[in-house]
Amino acid sequence: MKKVTVFNGSPRGKQSNSHKMVEAVLEGACKAGAQTNEIFLVEHKIEHCKGCFACWTETPGKCIIHDDMDELLEHFFSSNFVGFATPIYGMLMTGILKDFKDRMLPLSTPQIHKNEDGSFYHEGRIKRFPQMFYIANSGFPGNHNFDLLKPYVGMLNCVFEVYRNCGELLSDPIREGYQSKINDFLDTLKLAGESMVARGSVSQELIDKIHLPLISDEEYMAGANRELQDSFSNNKDFFNN
Ligand SMILES: Cc1cc2nc3c(=O)[nH]c(=O)nc-3n(C[C@H](O)[C@H](O)[C@H](O)COP(=O)(O)O)c2cc1C
Repeated sequence: MKKVTVFNGSPRGKQSNSHKMVEAVLEGACKAGAQTNEIFLVEHKIEHCKGCFACWTETPGKCIIHDDMDELLEHFFSSNFVGFATPIYGMLMTGILKDFKDRMLPLSTPQIHKNEDGSFYHEGRIKRFPQMFYIANSGFPGNHNFDLLKPYVGMLNCVFEVYRNCGELLSDPIREGYQSKINDFLDTLKLAGESMVARGSVSQELIDKIHLPLISDEEYMAGANRELQDSFSNNKDFFNN
């Protein structure tokens, strides 16, 4: 049986918009017969990488920090497909997910190799890496919020990538009238999860459908700004005092 694991890097954990999307992908994966698991990184102890390179020199393949990483990497190794989910924070991934990714350094070897395109890489220490997928969502409308993350994710050679703008719409009950579009979006994610496990790929048609707009930029902005207005008018003098 194929195993699919998603590492969710949102500090909101089970309350996150990321989780809503991950849940849908995993439901599809489960339908295709996979064993699925979503790991909320915020619930785990993951220290910062110390940058000591002991995992390359003194204890090859092993980090000297003893926290939850060993257990989390077990899930990584034993999966056929691994997903990473993150909200956009400062145009990039969250610090929680970045700490997790940094702590994967023991999985690579120290030697530097050159790609044909002139870039460089460290070869993996393990023989079989899982296939990956990526699920990002932004609080802003528009697609420029993903401009910095996309080139990085592009290097992972993912089965599929999701860049959901207007992400707060997924969990905002105030914005009525969008539920059917949200349901269509989540249903498409289910199909993507199912296709990934059943066929090892996701069609461009599904990818395009995943990225259809859920709401116009103006409506999303108006909704967000209306919701913020009350709390802002109560607190606007805070920074001026
Ligand atoms: C510290 C911080 C930084 C953020 N930076 C951005 C940003 O650069 N661009 C953006 O579109 N949204 C940004 N957001 C908004 C989140 O991406 C948005 O709220 C998202 O829907 C949260 O997803 P989650 O529920 O999965 O955590 C930021 C939020 C926080 C708390």
